[in-house]
Amino acid sequence: MTQMSPSDVPSMGRRQFMNLLTFGTATGVALGALYPVANFFMPLRAGGGTGGTTAKDELGNAVTATGWLSSHPSGDRSLVQGLKGDPTYLIVDGDEAIGNFGINAICTHLGCVVPWNSGANKYICPCHGSQYDANGKVVRGPAPLSLALTHIDIKDDNVFVSQWTETDFRTGDKPWWL
Ligand code: FES
Repeated sequence: MTQMSPSDVPSMGRRQFMNLLTFGTATGVALGALYPVANFFMPLRAGGGTGGTTAKDELGNAVTATGWLSSHPSGDRSLVQGLKGDPTYLIVDGDEAIGNFGINAICTHLGCVVPWNSGANKYICPCHGSQYDANGKVVRGPAPLSLALTHIDIKDDNVFVSQWTETDFRTGDKPWWL
């Protein structure tokens, strides 16, 4: 009958310890390798903790102000991916600058994306006919509320979208979307 000598006990303990160390090292390496990947999927935040994000085009590329203005004429209202990827209208002002607020295109009735109708100068929802004026203020139901606002800021030619937390200038009310 084999008997374990007392000297085997610490050596087993050491092997387990070594296993743990190897596992820990491997895990550390794996996590280290994953870090840039995880970072890649984190939304790009604007500086200063504004909770902003860069506007993206339909292909997911960051929108630049000069690029946008070279292909969107004065008065244009076209969609970018804004906060949480929500479709958001950028407005090209008369002076060929991107307006400082964006309009979230999600209808406040049941969530259809509301197209801009330049002939009517309104956003008209194809689902149940709600209408919003050029600033996104609801002018015809069944939508109960105006379209949500966002801030738009240009920094180093990048277009940033961030939460509109102030009074809704169209209604004088607190933002319903916060
Ligand atoms: Fe827009 Fe119903 S979802 S009117």
